[in-house]
Amino acid sequence: MKQKNIYKCSVCGKIIEILNPGAEKTICCGQPMDLQEGQTADWQGEKHVPKISIEGNKVTIDIGISMGTPHPMTEEHWIMWIEIICKNGCYKRKFLNPGDEPKATFVVADPEGISSREYCNMHGLWISS
Ligand SMILES: [Fe+2]
Repeated sequence: MKQKNIYKCSVCGKIIEILNPGAEKTICCGQPMDLQEGQTADWQGEKHVPKISIEGNKVTIDIGISMGTPHPMTEEHWIMWIEIICKNGCYKRKFLNPGDEPKATFVVADPEGISSREYCNMHGLWISS
């Protein structure tokens, strides 16, 4: 399934997701919003890349655990949300707050072909490799 585009306003910080594309530009604060390009890397070498663990129909996503320590979850620097995208079109997202664990567990009907994205307030959007 194609992932939905996420945009951020560089003026006010608003973040939106486009569920159905329309006009080419999305305007906020009088200027086009910036498309958040999903970054990716090997999860074993980059703390932002979602690490997917599957056990039966339970899917657990960890952020940063591969580097030995979880991603920070402070007021200044935290993972805002973790989501999974299933091949049959389901989207599941958990919103996090500073102080939470940078981790989410989801139950799905069929874990085959699952991908994951997360959004760090400082380092942007990351996609599972
Ligand atoms: Fe970060």
